[in-house]
Amino acid sequence: MSWTISENKFGKSRAVSRGNKFLLANGYMGYRGTLDGDDKHDFVALSLAGLYDGVAGKWRETVNAPDPLFLRAYCDGEPLLASEADEFSQSLDMRRALLTVRTCFKKCGVSIKSERIVHFERMRELGSRVVIHADEAVKLRVEAGINGDVWDLNGPHLKDMRFSFNENGIRCECKTQELGVPLSTSLCFSLKPTSVESGEMSAKFFYDVELEAGEEFILDRIAYVGFGEHSSPSEDTAFADISAGYDAFFKSHIESWERLWDVHDVRLVGDRRAQLALRYSIYHLLILTPRTEGQSIAARGLSGQTYKGAVFWDTEIFLLPFFAVNDLDVARRLIEYRIKCLDGARQKAASYGYDGAFYAWESQDGFDACSDFNVTDVFTHRPVRTYFKDKQIHISGDVAYALIKYLSRSSDISILYDGGLEKLIECARFFYSYSRFNHTKCRYELLDVIGPDEYHERVNNNAFTNMMAKFTADAAVEWLEKVRISNPELGAEMDKKFGCDLAKKLADWKDKLYLFDEKDGVIEQFDGYFGLEDVKVDEVRSRLVKKNEYWGGSGGVATATRVIKQADVIAMLVLFGDRFSSSVVQKNHEFYLPYTEHGSSLSASMYAMSAIRMSKPDEAWQWFVKTATVDLSGKSKQWAGEVYIGGTHPAAAGGAYLTAVYGFAGLTFDEGQVAFLPKLPKKIRAMYLTVTQNGERKKVKITREGAKFL
Ligand code: BGC
Repeated sequence: MSWTISENKFGKSRAVSRGNKFLLANGYMGYRGTLDGDDKHDFVALSLAGLYDGVAGKWRETVNAPDPLFLRAYCDGEPLLASEADEFSQSLDMRRALLTVRTCFKKCGVSIKSERIVHFERMRELGSRVVIHADEAVKLRVEAGINGDVWDLNGPHLKDMRFSFNENGIRCECKTQELGVPLSTSLCFSLKPTSVESGEMSAKFFYDVELEAGEEFILDRIAYVGFGEHSSPSEDTAFADISAGYDAFFKSHIESWERLWDVHDVRLVGDRRAQLALRYSIYHLLILTPRTEGQSIAARGLSGQTYKGAVFWDTEIFLLPFFAVNDLDVARRLIEYRIKCLDGARQKAASYGYDGAFYAWESQDGFDACSDFNVTDVFTHRPVRTYFKDKQIHISGDVAYALIKYLSRSSDISILYDGGLEKLIECARFFYSYSRFNHTKCRYELLDVIGPDEYHERVNNNAFTNMMAKFTADAAVEWLEKVRISNPELGAEMDKKFGCDLAKKLADWKDKLYLFDEKDGVIEQFDGYFGLEDVKVDEVRSRLVKKNEYWGGSGGVATATRVIKQADVIAMLVLFGDRFSSSVVQKNHEFYLPYTEHGSSLSASMYAMSAIRMSKPDEAWQWFVKTATVDLSGKSKQWAGEVYIGGTHPAAAGGAYLTAVYGFAGLTFDEGQVAFLPKLPKKIRAMYLTVTQNGERKKVKITREGAKFL
């Protein structure tokens, strides 16, 4: 029950949202939920994690590989297109990570069932089975092959494309433009073709098929997509292999997913739609599981090139909590990614004249891909200078925060020895050097920053940022002292690198670091925020002249007002929940809510969590549903000014899990020990989930009365 999402109407205009909604992926690659005969105009994309390329003068972004699953059937020379089908349905069976499209064409008495998987274990492989059923005698031509004419936002990224054939399949080799990384797509077929054809950008097998009434034509395909040292399926062959049969390939994929769901599923008893949405969120988290060392998760997952395939704070704050419950190896991998990027962060800090590590706002393996001009003005069509890269310094605090959360969850102190401690210290040193001492007020301040609310740029003393900075320094001091005892060699190395007085300097600094001002219990988001025009979201929205106008920056409609893009103070209260009373949370929640546009999908879950903190799980419910359904409903922002920002929203999926498991079920890890303090909303009678403690998986039932290990 509640495992399948489906649509029964075609809707040409839905190509973009369909591609997102029905995405298949496995952490290594993502294949958008487009249809077999689609091409770049329908936003087909096979996105590869962590393979970046830049074309001169354009944004560097992830590479889309040639599409190996192109297939079109023809009847009387006319293509059988889904847009013209008499019946159409598309469904995603999340339990098996299986996409199925059914079409029926009455004019030639044919129905087509097309299944597709992106194999979870054999991560460089994907496959498809197409079954064409003849209701009456029919002659068909089927073409299937590799289409190298791919959809790109800032491409083209592929050059030197060459096609070759063996008797079972096709191979496409090419290189990326910037670094010349070899990339190959090989495709093999279960049937020998009638003829083959190769062009500059594509190569195909053709099948001339004659079917009697009741007969079926079945074509299986398995494709291999690899780059760098993996650009061939094995040392023995450059071609993909289907000799073991599609059934075995399919079976092993299903078995992997059974194992995944056995551990990660969360059952909600009481509301089937919410159950479906939560499963869908978990599905989206699982398909992004980083597969290789030093890999993390991009803000738009594997749904395309939006946000350049870059890693944002989304991963540390919204995705890590999911992996921390039952997959500490992956959680550690996410932490290691930032250790790997430490040099890049140091270089970024140095380039602005600071010490320590200033992490990339949009990280491509440490390189900051964030442009100086992130939006385009819809009136003048000119690029607008935005300061996300230069001023969103909280990123270094988010990185430190995630490390400490991982540490307290796992007690894996080795992460500190393996570069974690140095990362933490460097983040603290960065904040230290960024701060200025205010002689009049006798305190350190963090001036000219951007908090999570991106509409207000270059503000002073953003409460969220200052709290993160203090937290980072606290943690650096604490762990430096502890490591001096547990690993004196590393302690000495740190002293040598950063000076013996670092802990003292940081301790002194953090005590003098200003945090925020407050009025009647309401925390001011940044200096002067309370003095901004007191209008609410609807009023600001009504002032828009054009629909896609950018709200923030120097001249946006929200800039001079209290209206904010996303949870900011509320995010701080959620992340540092133990330091604030629930009445403070309530005051701030009630104050900031009417000013919050939720223009980012990161916002809703924070409000859900604060509502739960206020013991109002029924109020949290609406925010939970909102965050869990972002990609199901497709009702998310597609444009920032004139820049396309569509794609899936992993942080919203992570936020749904966070709300359900850490919120409604009230999961905490106190010194590694699992505890639950449930606050179930009326809609939910019980929850079932798995949690890992000391390496052991435990099934838990949550009810209003409490938690019971099963
Ligand atoms: C949000 C950021 C977020 C980014 C990627 C932006 O719209 O304001 O907080 O990190 O999207 O999801």
